[in-house]
Amino acid sequence: MKKFKIIFMKYIFLLKAVCRKGRISNLFLIIGSYLLKRSEVKGLPCVFQIEPTNKCDLRCRLCLTGLGKLKRPKGEMTFNAFKNILRQVENSLIYLALYNMGEPLLNPDIYNMISYAKQKGVFIRLSTNANFSGRKHIKNILNSGIDELIISLDCATAQTYSEYKNSPHYDRVIDNVRLIVKERGSSPRPLIKLQFLLMKSTEGDIDIFKKLVKELAVDQGIMKKVRVDFYGVNPRYDALAKNKKYVRDVYKNKRQKMTCWRPWLSTVILWDGKVAPCCFDMEGEFGFGNIAEQSMSSIWNNRRYVKFREKIAKNSDVPAICHQCSIKNFRKNFI
Ligand SMILES: C[S@@+](CC[C@H](N)C(=O)[O-])C[C@H]1O[C@@H](n2cnc3c(N)ncnc32)[C@H](O)[C@@H]1O
Ligand code: SF4
Repeated sequence: MKKFKIIFMKYIFLLKAVCRKGRISNLFLIIGSYLLKRSEVKGLPCVFQIEPTNKCDLRCRLCLTGLGKLKRPKGEMTFNAFKNILRQVENSLIYLALYNMGEPLLNPDIYNMISYAKQKGVFIRLSTNANFSGRKHIKNILNSGIDELIISLDCATAQTYSEYKNSPHYDRVIDNVRLIVKERGSSPRPLIKLQFLLMKSTEGDIDIFKKLVKELAVDQGIMKKVRVDFYGVNPRYDALAKNKKYVRDVYKNKRQKMTCWRPWLSTVILWDGKVAPCCFDMEGEFGFGNIAEQSMSSIWNNRRYVKFREKIAKNSDVPAICHQCSIKNFRKNFI
């Protein structure tokens, strides 16, 4: 029943974001381009992932940022740059994931960004490590209008948490979750999801995590299969769960059929304005352009973006990042 309620609420929030000027017709245009496998897309992306910052206060052992292995410079997006993006795409943008390779709450303008996007009627999802102290963030999160909040606890006990996240603040995060749930009360926003990563060090704690989800009264517990190989950077196959049920297909040498809609419907903007095809391009290596220098509409159908889509549509010479991902199996990466 609870799961049904969450799905229902999420679709209501999304529907409200869709029913704004220009967005439905744009949606039809991009879906049409995808179905016809046109490498030039009519319309603009409706899903954006924007990276407020790639800085982080934690050192998670299987995250490129946490490991300090991200090669690009560290920084944060300015509020002006954010507004410039949203002004350009307000008639297409429906769903905004306001996080990527860092802790979004470290951007001093994060709540200005959220309220600006909410004024434009966008659905907002934010993922945080909730490693903050004091009540300021709790109050701001609840007043901001975020639709979906993911709290990446990633582990279920203080011991595995401190080992994996290199942080002694397990209790603080749990207290923060408790307070967010309590102070949200019966308000529908945000939907609160607690996330757990399935890996060797945590697979024995699944029942503890399930109990925690109930005890903390969050709306949903998410169990996500971990990624351990970022195109050869620091591969950690030894960290995979022993139980194959908890391991991504990509690590089981299963052939993956290439079906991906992301380059037609969505895009990623890194903190410095670089445009990337999806969150798997963590370094922004495809050189599609920079939204600080060019408009989204010119980048969206430039030669490199079009070539990228062509390869995916023809399933030939598919970029290396795609071999790590199978959008078709997206749901299978969670249990
Ligand atoms: C890179 S983090 C950035 C946002 C924020 N700092 C957080 O931790 O939620 C985004 C999401 O990726 C997840 N994540 C980190 N490393 C991962 C990995 N190796 N495999 C799968 N998910 C991972 C985190 O749990 C988090 O939910
Ligand atoms: S908190 Fe998020 S961004 Fe920071 S190291 Fe962990 S997973 Fe990476």
